Amino acid sequence: MDDAGVDGRRRDRLVADDDAVEPPTGFSERAVASDEGVYDAFAAEGPAAWRRAADLLDWERPYETVLDDGDPPFYEWFPDGRLNAAANCVDRHLDERGNQLAIRWFGKRGERRSYTYRDLHREVNALAAGLRELGVAEDDVVTLYLPMVPELPIAMLACARIGAPHNVVFAGLSAEALATRLDAADSSYLITCDGYYRREDAFNQKSKADNARLRADADLAATVVVDRLGDALDVSLGDDEHGYEPLVDAHDGETVDPVARDATDLLFVMYTSGTTGRPKGVEHATGGYLAHVAWTTRNVLDVRPEDTYWCAADIGWITGHSYGVYGPLSVGTTTVLYEGSPDYPDRDRVWDLIERNAVSVFYTSPTAIRSFMKWGAEYPDRHDLSSIRLLGTVGESITPKAWRWYREHVGGSEAPVVDTWWQTETGAIALATLPGVTPMKPGKVGPPLPGIDARVVDEDGEPVDPGEPGYLTIDSPWPGMLRGLREGDERYRREYWVEAEDGWRYRTGDGATVDEDGYVTILGRVDDVINVRARRFNTAELESAIVGVEGVTEAAVVGDGDGDIVAYVTTRSDVEPDEALRAAIGDELARSVGDLARADRTVFTPDLPKTRSGKIMRRLLEDIARGEEFGDVSALRNPEVVGEIESSVREE
Ligand code: WTA
Repeated sequence: MDDAGVDGRRRDRLVADDDAVEPPTGFSERAVASDEGVYDAFAAEGPAAWRRAADLLDWERPYETVLDDGDPPFYEWFPDGRLNAAANCVDRHLDERGNQLAIRWFGKRGERRSYTYRDLHREVNALAAGLRELGVAEDDVVTLYLPMVPELPIAMLACARIGAPHNVVFAGLSAEALATRLDAADSSYLITCDGYYRREDAFNQKSKADNARLRADADLAATVVVDRLGDALDVSLGDDEHGYEPLVDAHDGETVDPVARDATDLLFVMYTSGTTGRPKGVEHATGGYLAHVAWTTRNVLDVRPEDTYWCAADIGWITGHSYGVYGPLSVGTTTVLYEGSPDYPDRDRVWDLIERNAVSVFYTSPTAIRSFMKWGAEYPDRHDLSSIRLLGTVGESITPKAWRWYREHVGGSEAPVVDTWWQTETGAIALATLPGVTPMKPGKVGPPLPGIDARVVDEDGEPVDPGEPGYLTIDSPWPGMLRGLREGDERYRREYWVEAEDGWRYRTGDGATVDEDGYVTILGRVDDVINVRARRFNTAELESAIVGVEGVTEAAVVGDGDGDIVAYVTTRSDVEPDEALRAAIGDELARSVGDLARADRTVFTPDLPKTRSGKIMRRLLEDIARGEEFGDVSALRNPEVVGEIESSVREE
């Protein structure tokens, strides 16, 4: 920790650094985290320092132990404490701010709905009672397959209230992906909807859910269907299917006591791409997760109850879980939920929403920022965005250019831009500047947060020299960490942990460098995971879908650094690579993974570049897709294909 934190001496040097941007004075004075002593305090106190986070929550039974690390890597945070996540996100705010807005929802067709904390309490209780009536008991996993409608966070909280872990599946994923996740999570309850709007069209989500039921091995005990589209789409419900609205109406006004959960009990499972073709079920525990999320929402995103806060990520992914639902609601703020896309009905949409709602803290991804830049500064520039006081980014590295653009055109050249690094597995932000304390360096994510023992190391686990590439690891447990994998202890250990002489080291799967001030630059994944469009995909999962198409022999999938997926594909010698084949590949990706997995570019090539041992050189393909210089290719088994691939890419 010591090494990577920003102590006084380092800070002095940093200020002298041309690249460093000081926190704005006015901001620092009012910031939640304004004392630079916090780094030293965490370093001195060890895990006990995280009491600060746990003490932001209401505990049904106070914890005595902060961390049980007796059986690594199975760490237990606040193990003897008991709490309920929904009570922390809803009930405890009622006295002080029952009439304050908790959620402001904006639908794709210009619809609006608002919920005060009191409204949210009523709705969550009614649904919790309804779910009980349908047979959902504590520890039953409930799968949620919903777009960005208020019923999604409400359902998450209703599940949490009765101690039923939720398993949210992104609404854009395919029937097949839903089926796999229902089975893998052992889930017999599903909440979905009739459909939703995609631009002008009503899209039938229910038929995807029906398809998934046919494919899944498990039988569903009950399905709840939200009526999102009204008359625009008629779906009929079977005997074991229940309309959401009648269910909630039938239980309106009832209260369900929040179930006190052990801090180590499962709050939710979230499937994410891992290093094999099958997704991994990442499990998050109730206490440590919520504590870490609440602490970072306050200290990193600087969110307070009086803010109007907008995290633009879809709740179907971890960012939406932690910073669209649990973070903002646990700290009692007003959170914006937006169903639409940023350019519908026009490219003013995002700025218009910020202006009208006086959004003060806005959190999005570099992919989105790149689109905003492409569309042009005139869109944000013609809106009054003076309400913004902090900006955040997450999901991939942001270039200094994009960072500066974001700060200038959205943040009025004043707001801190906090680049936050974390993962589905870390549960909450792990590396970032503290906006009131730590200077920012555009393009560098920043030092590890206080209490996060992140390092950049070589193959042997030794810290690398400043500027040298290495692996990003976390060498001590942290509260938001996954408690395990649905696939079992062995897979969890193998997937993430290395036993070193001095303890267990968590491998993030990211490559990184660190500078002399302890600031980390993320180089990207070192495993078979790619980050595109703020989503995480496993290359093997996409590639196996592509090679499933008749006539395809091999495939390699990479990200182009601009948010696009590029697929390099070889075909059987008797097959003509044409538009029909391209379309078939796109359809197969959509069928097996989801529409969002369609390749943006499919490059047909006679061969893929391989090492002498036959491994596809994905890095090289990535450089080509990005239009970057690449190194010596003479060690390849087939260096001659590189030129051909390059010219096919250029023709694309
Ligand atoms: C990448 C999203 C650079 C990284 C919260 C990580 C980042 C993966 C950043 C996790 C950042 C996340 N700068 N890269 N600020 N934040 N990443 O699980 O490769 O969807 O391992 O969680 O995104 O993606 P996930």
